Amino acid sequence: MNEPKDILLEKQVIEERIDALARQIDQDYKDKNPVLLTLLKGSFYFAADLSKQMQATHSIDFLTVAHDSTGMLKVRYPPTSNLKGRHVLLIEDIVDSGLTLHYIVDYVKKQGAKSVTVCTLLDNPVRRLVNLPISYIGFTIPDVYVVGYGLDVNEYYRNLSDIHIYEP
Ligand code: IMP
Repeated sequence: MNEPKDILLEKQVIEERIDALARQIDQDYKDKNPVLLTLLKGSFYFAADLSKQMQATHSIDFLTVAHDSTGMLKVRYPPTSNLKGRHVLLIEDIVDSGLTLHYIVDYVKKQGAKSVTVCTLLDNPVRRLVNLPISYIGFTIPDVYVVGYGLDVNEYYRNLSDIHIYEP
């Protein structure tokens, strides 16, 4: 496996941006007690840091999706919270094609959520296949594969503090 290449986003830049996102979300979700529904695994560092920076009262939950034998996306581990009537903020590490999030937004709506919005650390719009409103974007990046700060290649390099470009 190759080593990660140049740094695209440094730890400090990531932290500052997350702080700003938290301020924005605090304002928008004051008195709404949102649930930060975190898509595992890649988003767990981002969700933890965002949650710690937020002042607005909120809960955190997680879900995992996987492809079944026919190639269809399925929720593998559903959230433990009841989402009915809740304001759900979906926390994602990176949106590429948007297919994963499109599926999850639909799933969350079917659970009876009062509102569903998307917060992603990274947006790679060049690869987008489905049109998807994203309310909060940390950084819009060029069409490169990235690792670090939760993002992996074959489950490795999630623990890097900075986000690096990775060339297979
Ligand atoms: P989408 O369904 O194409 O939007 O894919 C989103 C998911 O693919 C993310 O949640 C990541 O798990 C993974 N992914 C997409 N691009 C990258 C990348 O550059 N590095 C690491 N994982 C990625």
